[in-house]
Amino acid sequence: MATLTIRNLDEAAKQALRERAAKNGRSMEEEMRSILAGLSGNATVPAPAQVYAPAPMMPMAARAAENQSLAGKRILLIISGGIAAYKSLDLIRRLRERGASVRPVMTAAAQQFVTLLAVGALAADHVYIDLFSREDEQDVGHVRLARESDLICVAPATADLMAKMAHGLAGDLASTVLLATNQPVLIAPAMNPAMWSHPATRRNTDVLSRDGIHMIGPMRGEMAESGEAGEGRMAEPLEIVAAIEALLDDTPKPLAGRKAIVTSGPTHEPIDPVRYIANRSSGKQGHAIAGALARLGADVTLVSGPVVIPDPAGVEVVRVESAREMLDAVTLALPADVAVMVAAVADWRVAAQSDEKIKKKQGEGPQPLHLTENPDILKTVGHHEQRPRLVVGFAAETADVIANAQGKLARKGADFIVANDVSPETGIMGGDRNRVRIVSGAGVEEWPDLSKDEVAKRLAVKIAERITDGD
Ligand SMILES: Cc1cc2nc3c(=O)[nH]c(=O)nc-3n(C[C@H](O)[C@H](O)[C@H](O)COP(=O)(O)O)c2cc1C
Repeated sequence: MATLTIRNLDEAAKQALRERAAKNGRSMEEEMRSILAGLSGNATVPAPAQVYAPAPMMPMAARAAENQSLAGKRILLIISGGIAAYKSLDLIRRLRERGASVRPVMTAAAQQFVTLLAVGALAADHVYIDLFSREDEQDVGHVRLARESDLICVAPATADLMAKMAHGLAGDLASTVLLATNQPVLIAPAMNPAMWSHPATRRNTDVLSRDGIHMIGPMRGEMAESGEAGEGRMAEPLEIVAAIEALLDDTPKPLAGRKAIVTSGPTHEPIDPVRYIANRSSGKQGHAIAGALARLGADVTLVSGPVVIPDPAGVEVVRVESAREMLDAVTLALPADVAVMVAAVADWRVAAQSDEKIKKKQGEGPQPLHLTENPDILKTVGHHEQRPRLVVGFAAETADVIANAQGKLARKGADFIVANDVSPETGIMGGDRNRVRIVSGAGVEEWPDLSKDEVAKRLAVKIAERITDGD
């Protein structure tokens, strides 16, 4: 077959190929080969499942299409004039991936930061900018915009727009829509830390929260524009999406009034002040489970090792580093109805952590590291005097997955073990997908290859069934 140079295709052709490849779960090269094979009547291109076996890494669009948490929801997104407006472009994409439609409104200042073209193209909708637009206002368009949505999100929310909202001003389209709406409003403030901590902004924030306006952030961190740091950074798009999901969530709450403890991520076991022993766990699965339990109404404490992913919405997060800190945080969170121990806890730590950086000594070989066993958190919880009614463990294995999980079940005092094969070729550790088996006294349940969000959702439902069964 001739060499394929997708690079040389024009943008429109590349986009069409990208969409077709995503739809079919293939890479762009494989999709191109499939097209050429079809043209030559030689249909020998392997099906995607064979190409990617055993754990398919699905393209972004197909992966996202599985999580339709906002299917059919209409979000009115107001973008005001802050430097964080660039993140709104990603927010639009994330919302649409989850099935929402996004209708954008931009203030005049916002148009200095991102273009109408980019916002309109990503939203696939007209961008509303003008209160006195002859076209949009023929049928009192601002009132329609205010009412015909399930939620209004303001991201970024400038100090200026927050002040207008707090005082009921309606001098432009964005503020008029916000005054005319009877729908839930979520704002994601973003501004310089001095503006955020100014007494005027503090007063406005209080008024807005008394008025029932929901707020996410701002977060602490570096400011994009000034090299300054502090509180004022806009929440990340995925954090805003999670807050929107939580606000629009109307699923039943079978776990209301129940407490759950979830551990997630890796642990870091210090060797000296700069080095540590760790593993490749990303925390994606544990965080997704914590979020899924919270969505079913549970009061969730998430004990998380060091991760770089956003906190799930609606859970209390306790951040720890080492296995011993994780155990302390878990036992402190007891009693609970459910414990789901997902974290990849290091089995060993260095027996004597050095207070100073261990130096290389001329002429001497590497110093040996003496290891000692870490506490077994799952086993401790499984045999604790305040043992939760349901204890779920995870077994990440690279061989004899079922046999190891069955052994763990009895040894650790768990009700079921979620076992997965984390051999490097599966792409599970750190990836977005998982293929698990549920090992319990009743036998082994095989689940298909799923996104980690879907695994979390199904597991949360299973937990809710078990918990409510015994009532
Ligand atoms: C480079 C630049 C960055 C700015 N960033 C912010 C910001 O992050 N947050 C904010 O509240 N205002 C920021 N401002 C000020 C707003 O753009 C200004 O208050 C404007 O009037 C807001 O209008 P709007 O609320 O109608 O969008 C920035 C201004 C400039 C020139």
